[in-house]
Amino acid sequence: MTADAVAAIERGLAELGEAYRDAFATASSETALRDEYAKVLGKKQGSLTRVMALMRDVPAERRPDAGARVNAFKDQVEAAFTARLGELTSAARDAELGARPFDLTLPGRPPVGRGHLHPVLQTRDDLLTIFRDLGFEVVEGPEVEVEENNFTKLAFPPDHPATDMQDTFWVSVAGAPDDARVLLRTHTSNTQVRVMSTRTPPMAVVSAGSVYRRDDDVTHSPMFHQIEGFLVDEAVSMADLKGVLQAFAEGLYGPGTPIRFRPSYFPFVEPGAEVDIGCVFCSESDGTRATCRVCKTTGWVEVLGCGMIHPEVLKHCGIDPERYRGYAFGFGIERIAMLRYGIPSIKHLFENDPRFLAQF
Ligand code: DAH
Repeated sequence: MTADAVAAIERGLAELGEAYRDAFATASSETALRDEYAKVLGKKQGSLTRVMALMRDVPAERRPDAGARVNAFKDQVEAAFTARLGELTSAARDAELGARPFDLTLPGRPPVGRGHLHPVLQTRDDLLTIFRDLGFEVVEGPEVEVEENNFTKLAFPPDHPATDMQDTFWVSVAGAPDDARVLLRTHTSNTQVRVMSTRTPPMAVVSAGSVYRRDDDVTHSPMFHQIEGFLVDEAVSMADLKGVLQAFAEGLYGPGTPIRFRPSYFPFVEPGAEVDIGCVFCSESDGTRATCRVCKTTGWVEVLGCGMIHPEVLKHCGIDPERYRGYAFGFGIERIAMLRYGIPSIKHLFENDPRFLAQF
């Protein structure tokens, strides 16, 4: 057994012989050389590796000898490999230096494919800038929210369709009590509740972020973005709201852009209204209105909901409705981005196709 193992090692080394030297010498690239090296010393299939595995069967007293033989062989292989690698690298370098000289004075190549913010986020930032310039403070709110801040404190009646399992993504929180009602916020109005519940008026705040609903078609996505704005102070009226929204429309589409209010219902405002902005894609005078698909020939595009904050909502947030009033407004950012860039389907915004995104 003893003699067998040692003899097998001797035989193995003799068989390997010097063949690796020729193989290394004829390898004409670094990759080819490394392949040849792996044939000898590769972990799994290396011929020398297999010989080295026989060491297991060599008894302790003969191991130093046999080990030294094997290691000496291994050192020779490695030395030959390193020498040939050096030759190949310096040959490659000489070839490079000897090739067509390059002109260090040529101008550099500009970096290609520089990235930029997503069109929805560009639009968000431009919109926030308009409100910041009007004196609003920008605040962030959470996307995972308790039902109270998303619905209850905003005076949604418990049977309101928006609170339905069909419309809202409910979240189960590990370890929370069974009756914990946690959801993905359906609008950014939750931030209005949070800020009003923790501060004393006056306050003027806008908040932007992702919201979630179980909607999915060409103008709806289960995740989209909104901006919510509100102001609470002692003497606030619908006229102030109108002024701010007029400034917003002009900031977005230029001086003189008309807006109009239509009465509407949202549980957290009274009175409530929807606001349309005059269509900037067509005009009566040049005949483009008759075929305009953006405003569907009406001349108006619906963009946001707004109103005077309901006294009940103020009360829920610990603000005295006898002393304070406020207005609030909210709208979808995708809709504004689509109008701004003439994007026909909301889906384009979320497919992450660089051919689309590179256009903005
Ligand atoms: N939260 C409403 C929605 O998501 C939008 C909205 C309407 C916000 C009226 C408001 C408002 O602040 O006053 O549809």
